[in-house]
Amino acid sequence: MTPISARRFGRFAVCLTIIFLAASLPSHTQEQTSDAKTAARQFKNVLVLKDIPADQLIPTMQFIGGALGVDCEFCHVEHAMDKDDKKEKQTARKMIEMELAINKAHFKNEIEVTCYTCHRGSPHPVGIPILTANGGKMPEPEHHEINAQESLPSADQILDKYLAAVGGADALHTIKTRIQKGTVNAMGQQYPIEIYSKAPEKRLSISHPSFGESVTAFNGQAGWLTTPRGVHPMNSAEQQSARIDAQIYLPARIRELYQEFKVLPGETIESHATYLVTAKGASTPSLRMFFDKQTGLLLRMIRYTETPLGRNPFQVDYGDYRDASGLKLPYQWTLTRTNGSFTIRIDSVTQNIPIDEKLFVMPAIPETPHP
Ligand code: HEC
Ligand code: HEC
Repeated sequence: MTPISARRFGRFAVCLTIIFLAASLPSHTQEQTSDAKTAARQFKNVLVLKDIPADQLIPTMQFIGGALGVDCEFCHVEHAMDKDDKKEKQTARKMIEMELAINKAHFKNEIEVTCYTCHRGSPHPVGIPILTANGGKMPEPEHHEINAQESLPSADQILDKYLAAVGGADALHTIKTRIQKGTVNAMGQQYPIEIYSKAPEKRLSISHPSFGESVTAFNGQAGWLTTPRGVHPMNSAEQQSARIDAQIYLPARIRELYQEFKVLPGETIESHATYLVTAKGASTPSLRMFFDKQTGLLLRMIRYTETPLGRNPFQVDYGDYRDASGLKLPYQWTLTRTNGSFTIRIDSVTQNIPIDEKLFVMPAIPETPHP
């Protein structure tokens, strides 16, 4: 992971605004996804991706940015995303057409070839093999050697051990609320965060970065993000992701939320040997979980969200597990996306203190004029 500049941190605020401006769907229509508005109806100048659901456009843009290792402004004029002034944007539009055409002609219209297949995190794909001592081989992070010697436990055994390791189902279900206070470490900046959770699946975090208070919330039905610039309802992909993060009883509920479990040898994470459990969800995106072979605890979770051009990966690394009223909780976790990562360190945890329901009421979203 390359270090992220302060300039880029500033852009985070800008990007949030862009996302906010893009989200002109009023909250009560958020439930609909299939018959929701198309991108062409919501945005001014979408010519190729015109028929995708409007709320898929920004996740698709995030995919493109991650695949090329660039910011939004590589293609866009700031504050005028509809303009075609930059030749990079014009090239990108042709590339989107190319990706769709390749997959249609050669891969039964499945998303096999993506921007990342060629670009590998750079705007400039390399077409000539690079001469190196190892014969020009690229590292293959997705590849897991199956060691014939190793006999793997079943997914049930691994998930049972995980549940036992965090304290067991009974201890888990005694928890009704949790308040965590700590510090966010993002792109060289540090600022406080408070996280309010209520069983089974409500969660609201308030952080205080330099550009002002920011809230991320999910109340069991809807999710939203609030910054000093306004409220942005989560799109369906963000909402699915927030629902998983909000599960107080996650260690006991994984087998309800996901299906089709597979076990593979996992990579070593900070000198801990792991088992990898993969799972698929019916309405939830697919998932990879890495469990510590020794302690049974969850060390890493990678989730994927689908976009029309490829999948966006999102990784959470859990660490510093400590006791909190009979449970083992991670006191540190790092969230990584293609555009950077940030770490949350928890200093204090209090559980089963009443939390006012009002906290989880979604603020009214002013209806923004349609472009
Ligand atoms: C590699 C180039 C590229 C990058 C990087 C990129 N975009 Fe785009 N963006 C495009 C292209 C091309 C279109 C038009 C797609 C079409 O015509 O189907 C577009 C369209 C859009 C639109 C629709 C604007 C309108 O009203 O017509 C928005 C909003 C947008 N992008 C936001 C973003 C955001 C936010 C980011 C960063 C997360 C981003 N884009 C990154 C190439 C890019
Ligand atoms: C089949 C391989 C392939 C795929 C797939 C692909 N590209 Fe490219 N792309 C290239 C090559 C090769 C170049 C460089 C051409 C050159 O060097 O002049 C390029 C150049 C570009 C550039 C111009 C970069 C610059 O600095 O001017 C953009 C922008 C771009 N691609 C965006 C995308 C996007 C967005 C996607 C996915 C929708 C994508 N590409 C998918 C091969 C690909």
